[in-house]
Amino acid sequence: MKKRVFIISLLFLLVPTISIAQATYQKEVRPLMEARCSKCHGSEAPLVDQFKKEKEKFTKENKGPRMDHYALLLEFVKGKDAGAIMRRLDDGKSKEDKKPGNMYVFLGKDEEERQKNLKTFKDWVGSWNLKRRADLTEEESKKITAPQ
Ligand code: HEC
Repeated sequence: MKKRVFIISLLFLLVPTISIAQATYQKEVRPLMEARCSKCHGSEAPLVDQFKKEKEKFTKENKGPRMDHYALLLEFVKGKDAGAIMRRLDDGKSKEDKKPGNMYVFLGKDEEERQKNLKTFKDWVGSWNLKRRADLTEEESKKITAPQ
């Protein structure tokens, strides 16, 4: 009996540690975006509305929509363009066609680094849902946490 109480107490001690371990934008994601994405999504990139108006022109110039602030990035996680980050960074492994998203390649120099950085994004997003905003249920949307 005593042993069981001990194990249960231990579990309660561990649970908060596990939740604290979720990646945050400031600590893990921002440095990663700066290193791997800011060349094309940084302060010189157009805001998303402007980008959409002249998508072809910007794409040719290797400029994607600007994502160098938390609020800007969040639009592509659970805002207007919900799931864009997940669809573009997915490695394709759990999809039927096994095709990775077209930004997956930028996650790292080699497969090992790409997988490591994908894991960081997954930890941060909380629920790796590839659906578009219109297809997300409220329940699913809530599970996408992406903390600041
Ligand atoms: C060499 C330039 C380049 C790099 C580096 C790059 N991107 Fe992109 N990205 C683009 C361009 C150009 C587009 C727009 C064309 C397209 O949709 O593919 C884009 C589009 C996107 C989109 C879709 C936005 C939308 O309109 O919904 C997301 C999300 C994205 N990138 C995330 C990232 C992330 C995260 C990284 C870093 C791991 C990254 N990109 C690295 C050039 C880049």
